[in-house]
Amino acid sequence: MPTIKEILQTMDYGPALETTKEAQAWLDGHERRFGLFIDNAWSDAGETFATTNPADGVELAQVTQATNDDVERAVAAARRAQPGWVALGGHGRAKIMYALSRLLQKHARLFAVLETLDNGKTIRETRDADLPLVARHFYHHAGWAQLQAEEFADYRAVGVVGQIVPWNFPLLMLAWKIAPALAAGNTVVFKPAEYTPLTALLFAELCQRAGVPAGVVNIVTGDGRVGEAIVNHPGIDKIAFTGSTEVGRLIRKSTAGSGKKLSLELGGKSPFIVFDDADLDAAVEGLVDSIWFNQGQVCCAGSRLLVQESVYERFIKKVKARMETLRVGSPLDKSNDIGALVDPVQQQRIHGLVESARAEGCEVWQPTGELSTSGSWYLPTLITGASTSAAVAQAEIFGPVLVAMSFRTPAEAVQLANNTVYGLAACVWSESISLALDVVPQIKAGVVWINTANQFDAGCGFGGYKESGYGREGGKEGMYEYLTPLSEDARPAAPVFAAKGALKAADADSPFAIDRTAKLYIGGKQARPDGAYSRAINDANGAFLADIGEGSRKDIRNAVEAAHKAAGWAKATAHNRAQVLYYIAENLAIRADEFAARIAQQTGSNDAAREVAASVERLFYWAAWADKYDGQVHQPPMHGITVALNEPVGVIGIVCPNENPLLGFISLVAPALALGNRVVAVPSEQYPLSAIDLYQVLDTSDLPGGALNIVTGSSDELARTLASHGEIDAVWRHDGSAEGCAEVERLSSETLKRTWTGGAKGRDWFDPKQAGGRVVLQHASQVKNVWIPYGV
Ligand code: NAI
Repeated sequence: MPTIKEILQTMDYGPALETTKEAQAWLDGHERRFGLFIDNAWSDAGETFATTNPADGVELAQVTQATNDDVERAVAAARRAQPGWVALGGHGRAKIMYALSRLLQKHARLFAVLETLDNGKTIRETRDADLPLVARHFYHHAGWAQLQAEEFADYRAVGVVGQIVPWNFPLLMLAWKIAPALAAGNTVVFKPAEYTPLTALLFAELCQRAGVPAGVVNIVTGDGRVGEAIVNHPGIDKIAFTGSTEVGRLIRKSTAGSGKKLSLELGGKSPFIVFDDADLDAAVEGLVDSIWFNQGQVCCAGSRLLVQESVYERFIKKVKARMETLRVGSPLDKSNDIGALVDPVQQQRIHGLVESARAEGCEVWQPTGELSTSGSWYLPTLITGASTSAAVAQAEIFGPVLVAMSFRTPAEAVQLANNTVYGLAACVWSESISLALDVVPQIKAGVVWINTANQFDAGCGFGGYKESGYGREGGKEGMYEYLTPLSEDARPAAPVFAAKGALKAADADSPFAIDRTAKLYIGGKQARPDGAYSRAINDANGAFLADIGEGSRKDIRNAVEAAHKAAGWAKATAHNRAQVLYYIAENLAIRADEFAARIAQQTGSNDAAREVAASVERLFYWAAWADKYDGQVHQPPMHGITVALNEPVGVIGIVCPNENPLLGFISLVAPALALGNRVVAVPSEQYPLSAIDLYQVLDTSDLPGGALNIVTGSSDELARTLASHGEIDAVWRHDGSAEGCAEVERLSSETLKRTWTGGAKGRDWFDPKQAGGRVVLQHASQVKNVWIPYGV
């Protein structure tokens, strides 16, 4: 008699095709031709293009390529609708969003099948992963609409939002974008990807049925040109983009100086780290979810497998055995694991990258299997023997291709994990919670999964570090992306300088009275400017006051190097950082009269004593926050917790305002330091001596060398260098120069640094709302969501 094992081996899956009847009927009902959804009405289809089924290449429908005029109409409709949508109130919006969630659940099967037809991903994924998450997103955000007045009392909706998404999760990305935008009171102009527009069009019909008011949701279809028209439209207040890093860069460049708020969810090359004490079989299953989910067309796919050397061979053997059992075929078949790639273009791209690895001498391994000759397919692929700099180890392949390497120690694992321009996600597999949690903070990524992979939830933020973009989607942090603090509206139109009083000469006993050439402050030491140039600073009456160092590109380089060496500041305890800030405040307070005299001398201000007192208080304020800006513990629908950690951004370049040379400097530098960032600060170009005088205060306040570096000189020149520097993570500019801020944003696109710029407007630096609060803390930090399942 055969054993059960033998019987199982002879069994194969029969076809289990999901019916497409309802989806086909829906397409037929529209005569397979779609116009645009603007202002709650369907336009006639204009110039159209085909959207096809990637599994067989058969055309599904013709979809409109929107024109600039269409985008114009959509933006105008959204603009008209926005005040009414806000006026509906949190509860009014919540009810409509709740209705949307109910309808999405009711029609989940139709959506799932339509998504599978249009995208090529398996029905198992659209049915079991995408649709439940889509509905959950609208439910969760209906809740935020309901709670908005209470939880976001000091904020308002941004306005009209342009949203552009890719083809890999068409409906899920729609939900991630539209749900928070609507909850916060924004109206949207949404563009699906050209390969996968159908579920967005079906969603538009649900908006009509759910009672979404006209103009609140507008859906325009088409290719990148439509995306560009949205990005460049002056009537749009915010752009939310998910897609390639290349297009993300273009969007950052073209929105520079426009004042548009921007969130970018870009590419990744995420590590999947397996330590030798991991449950290897569980890790193999995690790996399947990580790299073969959605054919690997996932921004956070675990595409780089890093395995500890002692178990490397054993693990690779297990991976290959599991790959043999992966079923590639019709996406509509419920028992298939891997469906079709979205388009032949992707297939060629993947093929090109894999062949480049083969040509470089890597081993390329694929399971046995036949692929259909029609449609776009790719077998699951494992590449070994690649160097860390090989194209396949660095580029986002966006296909079912895994590149495996080994490491010896946890330190080497971290080094390999971070050896990429991206920083979206990471998986860490180890049975030692101590080891896993030790590695987590060292990995530069916005999401880390411990002993699990590719988990998502509407209540947990998702988004990247480094060139994977900025901004978060999901959770409370995601809501802030669609809100503007009311304090921004209160800002003056231009920097406001203090009224002038009678100018007093500096006290002869003051150390500031001595003429001298002030140096720069780098690595905790005073340093001569590299170019040996200086510039003269005059007092408020135009008389010579002092020479200051003219900082150059080389000085910024030295300062950035010193900042990187001061990595210990990021690891110092928050208590310790607070103590240092309090100490600076104490030492500043002791010399308050000298600092006030210096401000008055430079600016003529009759309010200098108040500025010094406010500066001392501001230091206390940020010292107070240092150990209180806690993260959060989310409760996703998983047996475990997700911990949202607020981490420092890294090295921040800060160009300070002129109007309050001491208070402006401290208001920006102190929060950055409080949260563990290291700073390269450019003080007021007009009145730099207040920052220079701080050197002595810093020297006596236990601030480690390199945590704060000060380079004086031309704000424009130095800002340019900061924004172009590859080793700086963020640049802030607040000197009222509109063109200068635009330039910082433009140049930041190269390495996708985060920016915080004030534009032409001023800021009341005395006002704790304009110069403080959570907004500043958010600029000074980035959120890492760590998923920790337990009991599994
Ligand atoms: P893409 O970035 O070109 O397209 C994404 C969306 O942006 C689409 O809706 C597209 O129409 C739009 N778009 C294109 N050019 C635009 C522009 N200049 N301005 C505004 N919107 C524009 O991505 P594509 O070409 O579909 O895929 C190419 C590669 O990008 C993939 O192989 C993959 O490596 C990467 N990618 C990464 C994604 C991610 O989630 N990280 C998603 C999609 C693609």
